[in-house]
Amino acid sequence: MSLLDELRAALGHSAVLEGEAMGARPGSDMSLTGMSLPRALIRPRSTEDVATALKLCNEARVPVIAQGGMTGLAGGANPTGNEIAISLERVRGIEEVDVASATMVVKAGTPLEECQRAAADAGLFLALDLGSRGSCTIGGNLSTNAGGIRVIRYGMAREQVLGLEAVLADGTIVSSMNRMLKNNAGYDLKHLFIGSEGTLGLITRAVLRLHPPPGEITTSLCAVASYEKVVALLRAAQSSLGGIVAFEAMWRDYFAFNADALKLRFFAADHPYWVIVESTMGVETIEAFLAQALEDGLISDALVARSHAQAREMWSVRDGYPIEALPNLLNFDVSLPIGHIGDYAEVCTAALKQRWPDAHVSFYGHVGDSNVHICVSTLYGPGEDMHSVDDIVYGVLGRYHGSISAEHGIGTLKRPYLHLSRSAAELALMQRLKQTLDPHGILNPGKVI
Ligand code: LAC
Ligand code: ZN
Repeated sequence: MSLLDELRAALGHSAVLEGEAMGARPGSDMSLTGMSLPRALIRPRSTEDVATALKLCNEARVPVIAQGGMTGLAGGANPTGNEIAISLERVRGIEEVDVASATMVVKAGTPLEECQRAAADAGLFLALDLGSRGSCTIGGNLSTNAGGIRVIRYGMAREQVLGLEAVLADGTIVSSMNRMLKNNAGYDLKHLFIGSEGTLGLITRAVLRLHPPPGEITTSLCAVASYEKVVALLRAAQSSLGGIVAFEAMWRDYFAFNADALKLRFFAADHPYWVIVESTMGVETIEAFLAQALEDGLISDALVARSHAQAREMWSVRDGYPIEALPNLLNFDVSLPIGHIGDYAEVCTAALKQRWPDAHVSFYGHVGDSNVHICVSTLYGPGEDMHSVDDIVYGVLGRYHGSISAEHGIGTLKRPYLHLSRSAAELALMQRLKQTLDPHGILNPGKVI
């Protein structure tokens, strides 16, 4: 019997799709760099199905890729044509929300937004939040250790996880569904699977940590004259506005491109930096803080959103969908010490513009948590491609001891550069873990390491 026939016999006919029946979706994540469909698409319904599928694939030495909402930006879920993709879309649902322990138990294929809503319905708050909330799934969020817009206050995906269930390459189910905030009983195994992008095991369920709802969030947009003042505003907001829940900066070219395309104008004048600050301190406190910041020269102007619609307008410039229409657009995801981000942006822009004078280069991002995104769009000459841009962006980053990935992960796109952010000893230990957990190298081969 062929492997696919064995999988059909074990999981049911409808769980194994081939050819056109797979649709285009398993071919690429949102980086749009995927070039081929997988050999087949498996749609298990349970952890046990996942275990069965992995056991069979491992015995046949056939590589496997886990797929969730396909919203990744690093090529981590992209097939090369030889793999069997395992979609977690039917391993979906919220099993329980436990108000007393402020936890929820969810299956990997559940969309993030569904989890957020279930937490809110129970009077609690799931702190993980990112632009793709409607289509990304918890399994993908955890396997990539997603970041997003609330990291400054609540930490990354990793920090929202108390327990995890994963399936190893040989089909062994490791259930560590811990619900306690404190548990020091030996190694914390869940962290092997969080952020390892499906290379060490396949996440099937999780116990997520919930928080009290943050309360009414007020959104303001500040115009700022220099990067130093952006950092000064961050520190002032953190000390005066206790609960800041987002701090997102935009450099002029990013802001102008998107605001113009969206036909949004917030202030009469143009400014070099723009910052969205979100706080739960109440409008009056925030207005008093901004008035003081204006008087102290930290900001040049500010606008407090008066409605959810106005806050959404501010965020629409930040989310920046118009910019995605630029040709060959690349979106980088670096992190470096906050004080150096402004300088890095200047040096990096100058280096890119020296090579491609007409390139669009713009910066935006979470900044308050040390992460900045870079948009680069250029037309390539002969012998040039995106790696020419990578070389410059990461080359300059090296001088600042930054990380090539703050939150999107390594996938395939950043794999050639991993050594810039990890030492030889770190890489060797990663290889040893990989070898131990996946001796036949069937789990998402060619990704991360
Ligand atoms: C964002 C994605 C690109 O922050 O990480 O918009
Ligand atoms: Zn981001």
